[in-house]
Amino acid sequence: MGVELQHPMKPELRPEEAARGRFVSGIRSFILNDLAGDLRKAYDKRAAPAFARETGRAPETSNEAHQAMRGDTAFNIYSSMRVHAQKMVWNAAGAVVDRDIERLAAEAAKVDGESGSVSLNPGLVIPRNVDGIEVHLMPGSYTRGGESLEAGAVYDQGLAVFSMGLMGANLDDIGLSMAAYISGKYPDFKPERILDTGCTIGHNTLPWKQTYPDAHVEAIDAAAGGLLYGSARAKMQGQEVHFKQMSAEALDYEDESFDLVFSSMFLHELSKKARAAAFKEAYRVLKPGGLLLHMELPPNGQMNAFDGFYLDWDSWYNSEPFYKGFRDEDPKQLCENGGFSADDYFQFVVPSIGVYGPDAVTDAIADEEANAVDSQTTGRLAEGIMWFGFGAWK
Ligand SMILES: C[S@@+](CC[C@H](N)C(=O)[O-])C[C@H]1O[C@@H](n2cnc3c(N)ncnc32)[C@H](O)[C@@H]1O
Repeated sequence: MGVELQHPMKPELRPEEAARGRFVSGIRSFILNDLAGDLRKAYDKRAAPAFARETGRAPETSNEAHQAMRGDTAFNIYSSMRVHAQKMVWNAAGAVVDRDIERLAAEAAKVDGESGSVSLNPGLVIPRNVDGIEVHLMPGSYTRGGESLEAGAVYDQGLAVFSMGLMGANLDDIGLSMAAYISGKYPDFKPERILDTGCTIGHNTLPWKQTYPDAHVEAIDAAAGGLLYGSARAKMQGQEVHFKQMSAEALDYEDESFDLVFSSMFLHELSKKARAAAFKEAYRVLKPGGLLLHMELPPNGQMNAFDGFYLDWDSWYNSEPFYKGFRDEDPKQLCENGGFSADDYFQFVVPSIGVYGPDAVTDAIADEEANAVDSQTTGRLAEGIMWFGFGAWK
């Protein structure tokens, strides 16, 4: 799969910039596939047996697997290379955007009048998780460049390099896979109003508009730059989405005003307190009979020690302070605490529609047990990616 964006708002790459992106993607692919395989072998052959000799038993939790691996050469090489490759992703994307930002702004201005909208709230107190840390080592975080297109453009270009083609040409594989699963499993569910929370640049919002073209789609985020860029990006693709700067912890919407509240890769960037508030707000704005759907990393409580540790890596080494805290929580309990009934909870694993094709999604709907949460492919950005989803009906 290619790693160059295909939509018209994308930063324009010079040949050497495209090559740099492919090079960094290639290194990431080597780390996340080859070196990850070595990591597993080192765990099985050296680290887990050493842990067992010391404690009289195998590692049982992701923390114990982490403890077992610390200091192992394979782990040190993997971690060091991943951190450096992560910095290379953002450096490569930042250089492209710095050079191309004026052209991007001019292009965005041309589609101002198209259907769709973006509205900012300069009075919003930006949550600390959005601007107070360099999330996943992204320089300037989500507020880089303030109210300009910069943060959005860096995110788009950076994610294209980061995802090695596994998120689709326009980074919408999660949204496409989730929307295909929901529309296939619940053919009578026809949402009229859809909300995406923590949308960043709306790359996984657009598939909902494509799947339910008659729906009114809103997408919120606390950071302005991604919304400005995302709005132009959506307009250029002829997708009507209404982007608003808002916190998911205090939604500026009436009670019972949406049929579907969605998020993707969002909850793990919230503090425990903010996450709890976001669930309550989602419950409040959902209509009775409405659907809450989160795509996220799978929970530690449903995974073996090694695969849990593998995913927790980002929390320890990739400036993702809330990642593990989220993964240690029980998604069903989160829904219940938000107001949903335990009986209305559901979860699933769906194969990436881009990698496996639409028939694999249909098969996943027909056989819920076919794709396990506890596997090395669920939630792992590498060959064979499967996405974890959970939620509840109100
Ligand atoms: C990893 S990104 C989400 C990416 C995107 N949804 C996707 O599908 O890939 C997390 C986003 O959540 C936003 N965010 C964090 N806390 C927020 C909050 N309290 N309210 C709204 N957005 C928030 C950040 O600004 C950032 O854009």
